[in-house]
Amino acid sequence: MLKTIALTPLLALLSLGSAALTTSCTPLGKKTHPGSETAIVGGAPTALPTSTGTKDSYNRVSTSLPFIALTFDDGPHPTHTPRLLDLLKARNVKATFYVVATNAKRYPEIMRRMVAEGHEIGNHTVNHPNLAKMSADGVRNELRACHDAIVSATGVAPRTMRPPYGAITAAQKSWIRQEFGYPTILWSVDPEDWKKPGPGVVASRLVSGASPGCILLAHDIHAGTIDAMPSTVDQLLGRGFRFVTVTQLLAMETPGDARR
Ligand code: NI
Repeated sequence: MLKTIALTPLLALLSLGSAALTTSCTPLGKKTHPGSETAIVGGAPTALPTSTGTKDSYNRVSTSLPFIALTFDDGPHPTHTPRLLDLLKARNVKATFYVVATNAKRYPEIMRRMVAEGHEIGNHTVNHPNLAKMSADGVRNELRACHDAIVSATGVAPRTMRPPYGAITAAQKSWIRQEFGYPTILWSVDPEDWKKPGPGVVASRLVSGASPGCILLAHDIHAGTIDAMPSTVDQLLGRGFRFVTVTQLLAMETPGDARR
């Protein structure tokens, strides 16, 4: 399927990433320079453009380019997350972590490692509640406190949020976007890894579900999910997919082709 994708727009995009290297979108003010992104294995250049998009909510991005976002919820976990970071680093794959503030506060050094290694961090609340059943003030407090915990640990503000259980109303998506600037990020592929079906099943569900512009859901608090990742990532790379963070993926949305 990916063989049908024209290389021209991909190459144009990659050179755009190169041209954008002088912008300040790299975390912690880290500067890279044109030509420095030579050791690309699983990722696109780290200084690709980023965006929070135009819609209130996304479960995928409309693009014909073979870019996908790998996301991990509910961490960081003291041992599973570092193991995951090791295997992502070995493949130069960038992911997005939707952290809960209780864990973010407990493991700030893992949070800082995520940022230092080019990953992105998103807001997944403090106590992991069902936001759809909460008052506006309750939701506001959950998001604000998680936002502040992420900034406190890393110095970098989250730009997207994911509601626990995917539970959120259209009205909430709208005011959260206005008040926090966050688009709500859901997912297009759910391997149900939290039910612990075994690493082989998690990997095959993620690989078979992937398509250009998709957002893959997983949880870095389960050992079996981490066990599934070498195979998952290697198979997806082998099929021609390249991993980007959520805000990099949002920047790739084809203009005028956004599904509203
Ligand atoms: Ni969650």
